[in-house]
Amino acid sequence: MIRAMATTNPIPRFPVGFLWGVSTSAHQIEGAVDAREPSVWDVFTAEPGRVRDGSTAAVACDHVHRHREDVALLADLGVDAYRFSVSWPRVRAEGGLDFYDRLVDDLLAAGVRPVPTLFHWDLPADLDWLERDTAERFAEHVTRVAARLGDRVTKWITLNEPAEHTLLGHALGVHAPGRTLLFDALPVAHHQLLAHGLAVRALRAAGASDIGIANSHGPTWPASDDAADVAAADFYDTLLNRLFADPVLLGRYPEGIGELMPGDVEADLKTIAEPVDWYGINYYAPTRVGAPQGAEIEFGGVRMPAELPFFVRDVEGYPVTDFGWPVVPEALTELLTAFRGRYGDRLPPVVITENGCAYEGLNDTDRITYLDGHVRALHRAVEAGVDVRGYFVWSLLDNFEWAEGYGRRFGLVHVDFDTQRRTPKASYGWYRALLREQRD
Ligand code: FCB
Repeated sequence: MIRAMATTNPIPRFPVGFLWGVSTSAHQIEGAVDAREPSVWDVFTAEPGRVRDGSTAAVACDHVHRHREDVALLADLGVDAYRFSVSWPRVRAEGGLDFYDRLVDDLLAAGVRPVPTLFHWDLPADLDWLERDTAERFAEHVTRVAARLGDRVTKWITLNEPAEHTLLGHALGVHAPGRTLLFDALPVAHHQLLAHGLAVRALRAAGASDIGIANSHGPTWPASDDAADVAAADFYDTLLNRLFADPVLLGRYPEGIGELMPGDVEADLKTIAEPVDWYGINYYAPTRVGAPQGAEIEFGGVRMPAELPFFVRDVEGYPVTDFGWPVVPEALTELLTAFRGRYGDRLPPVVITENGCAYEGLNDTDRITYLDGHVRALHRAVEAGVDVRGYFVWSLLDNFEWAEGYGRRFGLVHVDFDTQRRTPKASYGWYRALLREQRD
């Protein structure tokens, strides 16, 4: 392993009991595709041109067969907790839950707390979030998983980033299931939110008392002070930062949105607002947004049609990751303090459920710089009074990065996809040292 650089300026200590972890998701690492039912992602990746390098996740990190090795990496890293996802298509297959049963036992034996996410985008191929019924089916899935794992798993996450799954998967068509519905995708948002609320109820019925959701958020910066840019940025902010947070935390949609949703929205909002014990935030970068330009643009590999009421622009003046995402640690402090300002005492304790960056190489000093900066920014939010209880790096392993295939490496551990050899990177050593320092 490459040694981590010595930190000259130690990261301040986080509160006692702070949960340090790493995250992954089932479709991105598991492989063993024959031992589960197909998901919308299998269907999508089989279509030519959908994934940048033409790859699929049929093998990915072969984690189902190599999970012991991966648990050993987690134990050596010294994390308190491991966030993974339970594949709904695997749970539906004969013996599918056996895998998670073993994984949970192995994690606990290694002293690592399992934190499963119950949906991370790999919807069974015969289901569709445009249908309300999918929310009910999800509650059944959750009940089944909780019945099997709930004697050992105490901390749960309902959904991962319903915003991205709606926007990228159903509005813009760059993720599975590849629909381009633009604003007609809004029912997908509502049904996922309903699924979240039903899942909270199902978990409570199974005795769970430590439940959260992982939503993606980030500051939205107007491209200029011009009123049209500010209005466009405000609209984008509503989509990214309020559409999925207001219903969960406040029991209502942002103004003008509830009318666009299907079904008995008022009754559903009561379900959606079932209290959560903590609120998970996935944070990567801020977004700069201006008024629409009346033309289609390609941004970060995503084709944005001219009809959108905003125009996403480059955040200038900062280094960027291999994905082209700007590195702005202070925006994490800004996001968290703004969230506390917006939701006040309706905001439960926060956990950063994902944060990380794509860089090549084993001696990944850029990743260390990114993570170091963001952990310090998180500490500043704690000092400013935001109740933050945990931080999870995305990701333990290089993996199948959705429409980008294997070309974006987010792991603390390098994976050679030809041999499946795992090699800890310099950032793994850095995180390991940080966790030790925090416990000394
Ligand atoms: C998030 C996803 C996660 C991973 C990271 C890079 O939006 O939740 O699966 O793809 O981005």
